Amino acid sequence: MKPKVFVTRKLPIEIIEKIKEVCDVSMWEEEEIPVPRNVLESQIQEVDGLFCLLTETIDKSLLDKAKNLKIISNMAVGYNNIDVEAATQRKIMVTNTPGVLTETTADLTFALLLATARRLIEASEYLRQGKWKTWSPMQLIGQDVFGATLGIIGMGRIGEAVARRAKGFDMKVLYYNRNRKPKAEQSLGVEYADLPELLQTSDFVCILTPYTPETRNLIGEKELKLMKKTAVLINTARGGIVDEEALFQALKKGEIWGAGLDVFEKEPVPVDHPLLTLPNVVALPHIGSASKKTRLRMANIAAENLIQGLQGKTPNNLVNPGIY
Ligand code: NAP
Ligand code: GLV
Repeated sequence: MKPKVFVTRKLPIEIIEKIKEVCDVSMWEEEEIPVPRNVLESQIQEVDGLFCLLTETIDKSLLDKAKNLKIISNMAVGYNNIDVEAATQRKIMVTNTPGVLTETTADLTFALLLATARRLIEASEYLRQGKWKTWSPMQLIGQDVFGATLGIIGMGRIGEAVARRAKGFDMKVLYYNRNRKPKAEQSLGVEYADLPELLQTSDFVCILTPYTPETRNLIGEKELKLMKKTAVLINTARGGIVDEEALFQALKKGEIWGAGLDVFEKEPVPVDHPLLTLPNVVALPHIGSASKKTRLRMANIAAENLIQGLQGKTPNNLVNPGIY
């Protein structure tokens, strides 16, 4: 008998066909609506494998309902939506999709940095709303990116890919990471700085750590006050790493100049969220890895991880080897 699998969102047909070769698959058929909790709760009782997205909260109470679950394959590199400790205690494998989305997410991070620094969204709206009457010396002026100092918090795969892009813009790159990265210092010419120093000296600060209990509210009121008044904060990691109320106040009071956000504490971010009322915020709906090639690669890798786990192999991207 084939192992049973539940897929929490409609996937491209070739990915489903691949999983179906070895598994008995049921799938939440919607593309734009996440699977309701009650459906997930009922499916989890039946299945051996779960293919899920970062929109699904896989917590203890859900795992308590699982009788046969062996693997949770998350189609994302971040896995803060999963209680990994609870899964490990129950000997359930957890996998993610690292690497394949690095360059695409670094592209988006840099695009967001440029868009925020040069006010691209605001300028485009200005034109469309018929406000463009003439060229004017101080109209829609922004911050220079070339030659500026970029501070990267979290010098991992995406952090390094952003640093490479920054070098093309002649930027000085500082980084803060929980471990120093001598190889990156050598090969990319980036300099280590502790967090206060990085915040005080950077013109642009990019957050690229995972979301963990240690990184929750890593950037709060105290940290924002250390930043330059002309600085731009970019967050393409996870919303909870920045204290959103503190960020709103800092932007409103002009303590920092602007922010580019691809991620929010609560997603989708409510349209009446205070941050969305500010003209100096560029906000995106969590599209860091959203290119066709990359999303297909992520889905493929998540499918491979799932199949490997269900075939009794160690999946390529196991995040909790503690189960063994
Ligand atoms: P990664 O290679 O694991 O890099 C994360 C880096 O953060 C590592 O260098 C790690 O240091 C560092 N770090 C972890 N905890 C830290 C802490 N408490 N203080 C300082 N540094 C810390 O991960 P990645 O592939 O670059 O992805 C990073 C994150 O980006 C993901 O976890 C995900 O949340 C987010 N992401 C978002 C999107 C999007 O669509 N917006 C797309 C992809 C990823 P060590 O070397 O010491 O482990
Ligand atoms: C996206 O946010 C990911 O973690 O892959």
